[in-house]
Amino acid sequence: MDRAGAVALLARAPAVHLASTTPEGEPVLRVLHGVVVGDHLLFHGAPVGEKMDVVGRRAVISAEEIVASIPSYFVDPERACPATTFYRSAQVHGTIERVDAPHLKAAMLAALMEKYQPEGGYAPIDAEHPLYKKAVAGVLVLGVSLERLDGKAKLGQNRTPAEIGRLLDLLWARGAPGDARAIDLVRAASPSLAAPSFLEAPADATLLCAMGEADADEATALLVGTYWCEGTSSDRIRRSLLGSSAWVGARDRSGALVGTARAIADGARRAWIYDVIVDDAWRGRGLGRALMRLLLNHPAVRGAETVLLRTRDAMGFYEPFGFRTRHVHRTDGREIHEMILARTEASGEAACPLASAGKGT
Ligand SMILES: CC(C)(COP(=O)(O)OP(=O)(O)OC[C@H]1O[C@@H](n2cnc3c(N)ncnc32)[C@H](O)[C@@H]1OP(=O)(O)O)[C@@H](O)C(=O)NCCC(=O)NCCS
Repeated sequence: MDRAGAVALLARAPAVHLASTTPEGEPVLRVLHGVVVGDHLLFHGAPVGEKMDVVGRRAVISAEEIVASIPSYFVDPERACPATTFYRSAQVHGTIERVDAPHLKAAMLAALMEKYQPEGGYAPIDAEHPLYKKAVAGVLVLGVSLERLDGKAKLGQNRTPAEIGRLLDLLWARGAPGDARAIDLVRAASPSLAAPSFLEAPADATLLCAMGEADADEATALLVGTYWCEGTSSDRIRRSLLGSSAWVGARDRSGALVGTARAIADGARRAWIYDVIVDDAWRGRGLGRALMRLLLNHPAVRGAETVLLRTRDAMGFYEPFGFRTRHVHRTDGREIHEMILARTEASGEAACPLASAGKGT
């Protein structure tokens, strides 16, 4: 993992682990709320507390994220030995320093609040603020320089392309929570690998099967101005993307987001498709179809007996996937087609009178 990745991992970790020794040589292990401020990882405590023991001592602080557990049978049908875990971790080695400058202590506390209470609801922290002056003076702030920082990402990089391809297929087939994200991370760690078949995209585009926070602003920008988002604020669009059960996307060679689609789904009966969009410059090259194929196949969507969506004019785009119009609504004088894809004979839709019009088509 590169340095920026390691810093980011430390910065977002809900908790970090500190290992050190007391002056008597006793081992010390603590779980901390750490924040990255400038080129230090900082944490706080009480000036008379046990954290004082480690001031001036050598220490290592680590954070880790489990990406996916890889069962042995993904690799070998009998031997247990190949069972492993894909993960990302960061470790910083250094000497625990005490921070005394009030403005730095205040900056640490402000960063801590921003990380753990991002919704706000408090007066901004400033060393001179009457609400905080005493607290800032009284708190113990400690930290370690990020100079000796190592990041490690164990994401299958040492495996052959065929082995990784097989792992990706198996992760997609398993579809446990986090597996779609693991697939994107494994691919990003081995960028020269060919896309597995479920992520095949038109030339110069890369499909992503687990979009997230880092994609939200770009995806929102693609959607603002569409007829179906009229009257919906950017913030609400953004939150709806992040709240989806399945959210896929596509990036071009420069890394720009050029398409997205999402679904909300219960994993068994229904999935609703929303926000299918391809950037103007990319339309007509098969990207929309690739995104829909990926979304319909997504672990959160593929088990749904019926998949639904609404469109004003893109019926011809959805029909080849098996969608049929089951009603036509009129909203503000415009026709909206509600389309259904019924995936099994015993879909349960018969119980719903609205669905019967779409049955068997
Ligand atoms: C609809 C949209 C996502 C399609 O993406 P795309 O990348 O251009 O689609 P593809 O190139 O993969 O096209 C796949 C097929 O669907 C057809 N198609 C594409 N857009 C269509 C549309 N709006 N209506 C009918 N058919 C359409 C294509 O002609 C192609 O057919 P072919 O295989 O017979 O050549 C894209 O045009 C778009 O973003 N439109 C604006 C937003 C929108 O309307 N989204 C749908 C809201 S419900």
